[in-house]
Amino acid sequence: MIRKCLFPVAGYGTRFLPATKAMAKEILPILDKPLVQYGVEEALEAGLTDIAFVTGRTKRAIEDHFDINYELEDQIRGTAKEAMLSGVRELIEKCTFSYTRQIQMKGLGHAILTGRPLIGYEPFAVVLADDLCFGDTAGHGVLRQMVELYAKHQCSIVAIEEVPRDQTSSYGVIAGVPIDDRLIRVTDMVEKPKPEDAPSNLAIIGRYILTPDIFEIIENTPPGRNGEVQITDALLRQAKEGRVLGYKFRGQRFDCGSVEGFVEATNYCFETFYKKQ
Ligand code: G1P
Repeated sequence: MIRKCLFPVAGYGTRFLPATKAMAKEILPILDKPLVQYGVEEALEAGLTDIAFVTGRTKRAIEDHFDINYELEDQIRGTAKEAMLSGVRELIEKCTFSYTRQIQMKGLGHAILTGRPLIGYEPFAVVLADDLCFGDTAGHGVLRQMVELYAKHQCSIVAIEEVPRDQTSSYGVIAGVPIDDRLIRVTDMVEKPKPEDAPSNLAIIGRYILTPDIFEIIENTPPGRNGEVQITDALLRQAKEGRVLGYKFRGQRFDCGSVEGFVEATNYCFETFYKKQ
């Protein structure tokens, strides 16, 4: 049973400068909702109610977003605007939020290890909020699909997606043995390989389920690509023991860490949700 979801949010968001000079990239809105709220909604929908943030300087707005703003809420009480806060209100009521700071940016693996005191020794999910995901037609989110898989397989799971070959250097890339249409037992994984070195075109996207032994593995993982401690390298150790699955999720994902993906996500949400309101 998975209850906890870790959000590494300490990254600088340099691809969105100057917008992210003084503001968290996770607070950038797709329409009227911050990216990070979509991620927490996806976690709650998957039954994960313990939300843990690995945060950093300039990220205070995330904590404030998942809190009550008494003055503002007093101002709009009894008006139509009150309803605009009902979504985030529900998250605040149903979830608990905890925070720890990553003092130095030493990579995603290091960020996840920094979250260890908030997770303890139990399986947990990781969401990279700038990958915005929408689930299948039945409305099941990507994390929910992965939590259901975990119940059956009890091992680490990474969400994967086919990407054009020339984009492999932006992702962790896996190779493995198919189990069924959507599941692969991972045998190899490489962080941000050049297209000619990539073991496939199956890219890891920002949704993970990790078993807690990953923390000890990360502790013993030396810096890899870009001199950073990579979760991909740590997961490879589990994969070598047959303990990692790649899951071709049902649904859609937008790379909101890039301006193009951000605009695509905005258009998608406008067409799919906003116009239908
Ligand atoms: C991280 C991971 C990478 C993964 C990607 C998904 O990279 O290191 O393996 O494919 O997230 O978004 P980042 O985008 O933070 O550079």
